[in-house]
Amino acid sequence: MTPALKLERRIIILSVAFVLVLFGLAAMAINMFHVGLPTCLTDIKPFEKGELITHSPTHYEIHYVAKMWDFEPKEVTLPAGSTVDIYVSTPDVTHGLILLGTNLNLMAVPGVVNYARVKLDQPRIYQLLCHEYCGTGHERMAANVRVVDAAAFKPETPKAPAGPQTTDAVAKLLEAKDCLTCHSIDGSEGIGPTLKGMFGRQTKLTDGSTVTADEAYLREAIVNPSAKVVAGFDDVMPKPELTDEEVNALIEYLKTLK
Ligand code: CUA
Repeated sequence: MTPALKLERRIIILSVAFVLVLFGLAAMAINMFHVGLPTCLTDIKPFEKGELITHSPTHYEIHYVAKMWDFEPKEVTLPAGSTVDIYVSTPDVTHGLILLGTNLNLMAVPGVVNYARVKLDQPRIYQLLCHEYCGTGHERMAANVRVVDAAAFKPETPKAPAGPQTTDAVAKLLEAKDCLTCHSIDGSEGIGPTLKGMFGRQTKLTDGSTVTADEAYLREAIVNPSAKVVAGFDDVMPKPELTDEEVNALIEYLKTLK
C-alpha cells in the first residue's frame, strides 16, 4: 500500500469515528439530559383578535394577528425589563415576524399559533417587521413595541380618532377593517386610492371608463371592491364584512373628507 493510500484510509477511519462520536453524544444528550428539539408550535387555537395581556407589571403576553398587510396590535407600550410572551396567528397567508434588536424570529402560519418569549430591557422602540413576502403590501407590514422606563410607564389609554371629523364609531371601523393600511386620509398615495376628496371625484377605472364617485359608486366600491377598480391600482382589496349601517357610516364619513 502506498503512503498516500494509507493516509487516505486513516482519514476515512477518523471521519467515520468522528461522526459516530457525534451521534453518541447527541443520543446521550437526549436520553440522559432530556434535551429536546426547540419548538415554537403551540396547542393554542388560531385567534382573530390581536391583544396585549398584562400578567404582572413585568410579565406581558401579546397576541399578534399578522394579516395582509398589517399587524394587530399596531403598537404596544411596555415598561423596560418586561418579559413578553409572543403568540402569532394569521387568517390568510404565511407571514414572518421579526422584532429588530432581539432574537425574536417567528413564522405566522395559517392554522397554527407560534410562540416565543423575549425580554425587553432597553427603553426604545423595537420595530416588528414581516420578513416573509406576503403580497403587494408586504413591505408596509410593520408594528412597534415601545419600551419605556419602568418609572415612566403608564398602562395604555385608547388612541385618539384617526382623522378629521371622525366619529368614534367610524374610527373604530376604519381600524377594525384595516382600511387605512391601504387608503390614506391625507391625500397621499397608497396601495389603494386616498380617501381624501374621494366623494364626488371623477374617477377613471381600469376598463377606461370614468365615473363620478357618488353614493351608489362608493357603496359598490366598499361592498364589492372588484366590480370597478380605479385605474392605476391593483384589484387587491378584500371584500369587507360590513353591515348596511356601517357602510352608510363610512359613506357619510367619506363625504366629510374633502
Ligand atoms: Cu406579511 Cu410580508
